[in-house]
Amino acid sequence: MFIPEEKISEILRTSDIVEIVSESVILKKSGQNYFGLCPFHSEKTPSFSVNSAKQIFHCFGCGAGGNSLSFIMKYHGLSFPEAARMLARKYNVVIDTQHLDPARKKQLALRESLLRINRKVMDRYQTHLQKDPAGHSARQYLENRGITSATLDEFHLGFALDQWEDMVGFLKKARISRQAALNSGLVKPRENRPGFYDRFRNRIMFPIFDINMQVAGFGGRVMDDQMPKYMNSPETPVYSKTRILYGLHAAKAHCRSQGGVHIVEGYFDFLTLYQNGIKNTVATLGTALTPEHVRILKGYAPTMILVFDSDAAGIAAARRSIQTFMNEGVETRILILPRGEDPDTFVLKNGPDAFLQQADNARSVMPFLRQVAMETHGSSVTGRARVLADILPYLADIQDSALRSLHINELAETLNIDEAAVLEKVREQVVKSKTTRDRRPDTEPSNSELSSDPRERQLLSLMLQWPHIISGVADSGVLDYFYSQTLSRIGQFMVQADPDPDAFVSRIMAGMETDADRDLVASLAMTDGLEDNTDLEDAAAAIIQRIIRIRKKNDSGLTAEIKRAEKCCDTDLMELLKLKQQEIRQLHNGQ
Ligand code: CTP
Ligand code: MN
Repeated sequence: MFIPEEKISEILRTSDIVEIVSESVILKKSGQNYFGLCPFHSEKTPSFSVNSAKQIFHCFGCGAGGNSLSFIMKYHGLSFPEAARMLARKYNVVIDTQHLDPARKKQLALRESLLRINRKVMDRYQTHLQKDPAGHSARQYLENRGITSATLDEFHLGFALDQWEDMVGFLKKARISRQAALNSGLVKPRENRPGFYDRFRNRIMFPIFDINMQVAGFGGRVMDDQMPKYMNSPETPVYSKTRILYGLHAAKAHCRSQGGVHIVEGYFDFLTLYQNGIKNTVATLGTALTPEHVRILKGYAPTMILVFDSDAAGIAAARRSIQTFMNEGVETRILILPRGEDPDTFVLKNGPDAFLQQADNARSVMPFLRQVAMETHGSSVTGRARVLADILPYLADIQDSALRSLHINELAETLNIDEAAVLEKVREQVVKSKTTRDRRPDTEPSNSELSSDPRERQLLSLMLQWPHIISGVADSGVLDYFYSQTLSRIGQFMVQADPDPDAFVSRIMAGMETDADRDLVASLAMTDGLEDNTDLEDAAAAIIQRIIRIRKKNDSGLTAEIKRAEKCCDTDLMELLKLKQQEIRQLHNGQ
C-alpha cells in the first residue's frame, strides 16, 4: 500500500460511487442498481451497473468492475495514488504523500508540476492579452471576431508575446526545472546551439481544460495568414489529444440538461456558439473524432449532432466519424452548413436561432450518406450502382433488422432499384464483414475461473455481501479445499479484513493487486447467489459442506493410490499419480 490503508478506507467510506460515476455516465435506476452505457467498451444497450449499497460498479458486458477508486483510475487513466488523492480532495480527506514509493511519487509529482506550470502560464498569457501594450493587436483581433470580454474571461484566453525567450525566462524565474519545462511542451530545445526557445510566439492562446478544470495544454492561433494557423501543445502526461474535447468542462452540464451535444471543429466555432447561448457544444480541435471522445461524450448526452463545413474535407471527415458513432451506438445527426460557412461564421451572420433551425433539420446518418453518395456519383445507371456500393457496408453494419430493412427500402426507392436486389447485396456484405469480424481477436472477457466449482464463487459472493459469516467460513477451513487458487486467495484476504459491513466490498477491492482480481470481486459481489427465503447461515453451511465432501471424495481415491504406490516403491506409478492429481487441481483452477 502506498497510501495508508486507513486513509483508503476513509476515502471509500466517505465517497459515493453513484455520485462519482454520474459525473461521467448517465445512470438510470432500475431495481436495486443503476444502469448506464459502459464507458470502458462499446455498447448500445446499458450493461454497466452501479450498486449504491455495495458501493461498486460492474459491467455485465465487458466484466470491468471495481469501487469508486478503481472507477476514477480507469476512467481518467490515473494511477492508484493519484485517484486516491483526487477523491480525497473531493471528499475532504487529508492525506500526505510521505508514504508513496519513489516511482509513484515521481510520476505524481510530474503530472502535478505540469498542471501547476500550465496554470501559471495561462495566467501569464492572460495578463499579456489584457494588460500588455503588445497584446493590443490580439485584443483587436478577438474583438473583430466578435468575442466578448466575458467570453475571454470565462475561457481564459491569452496572448503569447512575439519573443523567442519570453516563456523560457518566465519558467526559469519561476524556478521550473529544465526537464519540467521541456515536458510541458511550452519550450523547445534549440537546434544548432544550446538553450531553448518558446513554442508559442505572437499567437492568441487558448488554454485547453480537462474535465476537472485543470489546464491540460494550449492551442495558439496566428493573427494573420501565416502558417501554421494553429499550433497545439504536444502530448504530455496531462494532455492526450484522443481524449480531450475543448469546452467540455463548461458544456457538460448543458449537454446533460439538453440531452444532446453539438460537435464542432474549432476554437472559434465553440466560443461563438457558446457565447450565443448554444452551450451544449464541444470542439475536437481539428483532429479526427476518436472512439474515446465519443465514449466520454456519451456520458453527458445521448444524442449528438456533428457539425461540419460543407467543403470536401468536412464531408470526408463526417463520413469517417460515422463509423465511430455507429460502433458506439449513439444516435447521431449530421449538419453540413451552407457552402463556405463554418459554425462561427454562420452564427455571426445569421444568429443562433438560424443555427438551431439548421440543427433541427440535420439528417441522420443514413439519409446523409445517401445524399452525399448521390451528389458524388449522379443518377446514371453506373452512378446509382456506385451509390449502392458506397452505402452497403453501412447497411450491413446495422444490427437492428427492422431498422435495416427500413433503410434498404428507402434506398431501393430513391435509387429506383428492385428492393430484393438490394437485400441480396446487403446479405452478401453481411457475410463478408462477418468473416472479417470473426477473424478479429476475441474481445469477450475470458474468465478461466468460470470453469471452477460454482460453489466456490457462490460462497465468496455470500461472504462479500454478509461479512459476518466470514469468521465461520474461516473456521471451517473450506478455503484450503478450493480448487481455484484465485478464489481461495481472495477468500483468505477477506478473512483478514475488518468485517465491518460499511463499504466492505469496496475495501476488499482496494486490497486486490490486479485489475482482473478486482473485476472478479465486482462480479462476485453483484450476483446475489441466494434464493429468496433461504436462510443465509444454512446456505453458507450447505455450500461449505458440499465443497469439503466432494474434494475429500475425489482426492481420497488418488491419495490412497499414491500411498500404495509409495509403499510398493513403485516410483513411476507414484509420479504418474501425483502428476494426475496436480493435473486435476490445475484443471479446476483453469490455469
Ligand atoms: N486546428 C488545429 N491545428 C491545425 C489546424 C486546425 O488544431 N493545424 C483546429 C483548430 O481548433 C481550429 C479548427 O481545427 O479552430 C478548425 O481549423 P480551420 O478550419 O483551419 O479554422 P478556420 O475556421 O479556417 O479558422 P478559425 O478557427 O480562425 O475560424
Ligand atoms: Mn472558422
